[in-house]
Formats: sequence, C-alpha cells, structure tokens
Amino acid sequence: MIDLNGLVDPEGGYNNPRIYTDPDLYELELDRVFGRSWLFLAHDSQLPKKGSFVQTYMGEDPVLVVRQKDGSVKAFLNQCRHRGMRICRADEGVSKTFTCSYHGWAYDLEGNLVNVPTEDRAYHNEIDKKNWGALKVPRITNYKGFYFGTWSEETPEFDEYLGDMAYYFDSVVDRWDNGLEFIGGTSKWVIDCNWKFASEQFASDFYHAPVAHASAAIALTDQPLVLLPPDIPGRQFAGNGHGSGSFWLPELTLPDVHVGQKYTAWVAENQEQVYGGIGRDRAVQVLALHNTVFPNFSWLGQFSTMRVWHPRGLGKMEVWSWTFVPKDAPAEVKATIRRGVQRTFSPAGSFETDDGENWTEIQKVLRGFKARESRFNTQMGLGFEERDTNGQPGQSNDVFAERQPAASIAIGVS
Ligand code: FES
Ligand code: FE
Repeated sequence: MIDLNGLVDPEGGYNNPRIYTDPDLYELELDRVFGRSWLFLAHDSQLPKKGSFVQTYMGEDPVLVVRQKDGSVKAFLNQCRHRGMRICRADEGVSKTFTCSYHGWAYDLEGNLVNVPTEDRAYHNEIDKKNWGALKVPRITNYKGFYFGTWSEETPEFDEYLGDMAYYFDSVVDRWDNGLEFIGGTSKWVIDCNWKFASEQFASDFYHAPVAHASAAIALTDQPLVLLPPDIPGRQFAGNGHGSGSFWLPELTLPDVHVGQKYTAWVAENQEQVYGGIGRDRAVQVLALHNTVFPNFSWLGQFSTMRVWHPRGLGKMEVWSWTFVPKDAPAEVKATIRRGVQRTFSPAGSFETDDGENWTEIQKVLRGFKARESRFNTQMGLGFEERDTNGQPGQSNDVFAERQPAASIAIGVS
C-alpha cells in the first residue's frame, strides 16, 4: 500500500509525481474521492421529459440518470443484478423500462427489477424481485438545474460542500434571466493522462495560458495574446478543493473568433438582460474563465464549455464536454456559440489540443523511474493568499497563483 505521507505538501509548495502514476493511489481515489464526493450527473436540459435518460459515470462506475414520472431525477448503477451486464447500452433517449440485453431482466425508471423472463420455469416463481433492483445513488441534489449525486451518506449537503465556490458557479448559472441549457449533445474523447492534470488546471492554472496557447491565439486572432496585457488584474479562488480563476476584463466583449460574431453582437445589444442576474461589475470581474468543482466537473465561463474528466485508469481519462448557451438567446446566436466552442475547446479545438498535448507528454515523461522520484513545484503565490477581497468570498490570490486542490484532497491533505 502506498505511503500517503509527504506526497503533497501545500505548506511547502511541492508534490510528488507519484500522485499521477501509483496504482494503489488510483484505487484509493475511486473509493475515497469518487465514492464520496458530489459528482455532476446531468443538466436539466438533457432530461426534457418523463422517461428521459442519459448514461454517465461516477468515477469508473456507469450510472443511468433518469427523469421520473413525477419530474424528479434519480440515478442508479447501470449494472444488471443478474450477471452484471450494463442494463442500458444507449447513451441517451426516452424509455419506460430498461431491459438487459443479456438475458432480459427488466428495470423500471427507478432501477427496480420489474420483469424476469420465464420466471416460473427458471426461478420457480421464488425470486424476490424487490431485493434485486439496481444499486441506487442514495443522494441526488438539484442545484439550479444541475444534478449532482453522491454514494456517501456522510458527505455534507451540497451547499456546504460547494462553500464559497457557489459565488463563482452562480456567476455562470445566474447570469441569464432564464438560465442556460446544453446544446449539441455530448462530445467525448479519450486522452492518455491522469484525470487530475485536467481537473487541477481548470481549478488553478491561468499561468499556462500565455505560453501554452500562444500559437492558437496567434492563429485565431493574428495577435499573440489578445486578452492578456501584462498588468491586467485578476484573482484566483481556492476553497474546499474547488477553484476558479479569471482576469477582470474591462468590458465583456470577446474576440469574435472565440465565440462567434453574432454572440458578441447579441451580448453588446442585450447587456442588461444578459447580465441582469448578477450585475455588470460581477459579470465583468468574475468572468469565471476557468473553474473546477471538486473533483472533476469543470467549465470555462467565457468559452461556453462545461465538462467532466472521467478517470479511465491511471494514465487515461475520458473527457465529456458540453456547450452551454443562454436559453433565451436566438437560435442563430446559439449556433454561433456552438461553432465557437468547436473551434476552440473541443476534441480538435485549437486551445483544447494545446492543453491535452502538455498533459499527455507529462504522463509519458513519468514512465521514467527517475522522473517519478523528483518533486514538482507548486509554490506560485504561496503566502500571498487573502480572504474576502474585492467582495469575492473565500480565499483568493493573484490570478497567477496555484494550489493543487484535487491532488491534495485526493490524498487527504486539505
Ligand atoms: Fe442481465 Fe443476465 S446479465 S439479464
Ligand atoms: Fe488551457
């Protein structure tokens, strides 16, 4: 068993790269992180009617998330209690029941076992179906249209778990009067790196942007760093393992090439309506560019993409990403946002591939024995933390500051 002591030192500002390579630690994460945390399951707009369902994962466990007849949302392990086959193999859809494709056991929308083929002959009518339902996710919460679930009865309520991060999450979800919706389905891709590289970068790393994304910025805008004059202010929040960071832009305008000309024009014409929910100052100052709700739910406020970094073994993760748009935006504005996301943060997006290239290269380097013995430096901004500055709750720092919330909490160092 791995010795957890000394792997991460938030006070000294270093970590040990074995957090990305140790198989025992990965198993512990599946149990202690993904078995206990609140994990994003689905957004309201993915489950439009009774019987609507989506498949997703809680860690590596496949779950079905289903809109019930009473409008509530429930989730259960997508594993047949007969011999363990996936109960439902469709990614999403609408159904009244779910029938296992192996021997035909059927489950209702809550995951209760409701039909067993040839029950009289095969089981002599003695099987007690109520004991053989799918394993239910015991706790689900609906936070402003976002459903999160946890297997743990001990984990604090979601509001407490979110803590000060609510301010930053709300800056995205309360921004538009009538809320937001996901459009265009789910983009999925697998890349060869540990899930924490992505989760941490979206929590706390603005530092990479001017360098890692330099070529993409030039290609898309003809300017090296369109949004990043060296003295632009900005803050980096960290709390409860979550993180959010953003520059404070003087205006909300964005380069058309990122989000589409029609979106930029629509925002300019409808500023009061668009940002009415949180006010102009907050909208500008907390653009909430990069964010992670621990452990693996992230979004880029400015770029209209949300995603989950599903772990897929030690050196692999599966990214599931969505485009979010203001529900009230005209159809052509939504379409232009979706194209902007595809251009920038999608499997072949010019910014997305910059990030993936760095994460996968680090993972390759860590195949080396000596490479796994070194320490990594996480001292940026150490000792310069402040609380409740600029009306923003919680601990924050200059935007160029780093913490390792996912890594630290994964091994029990807060
Ligand atoms: Fe599902 Fe047999 S494994 S019915
Ligand atoms: Fe990036």
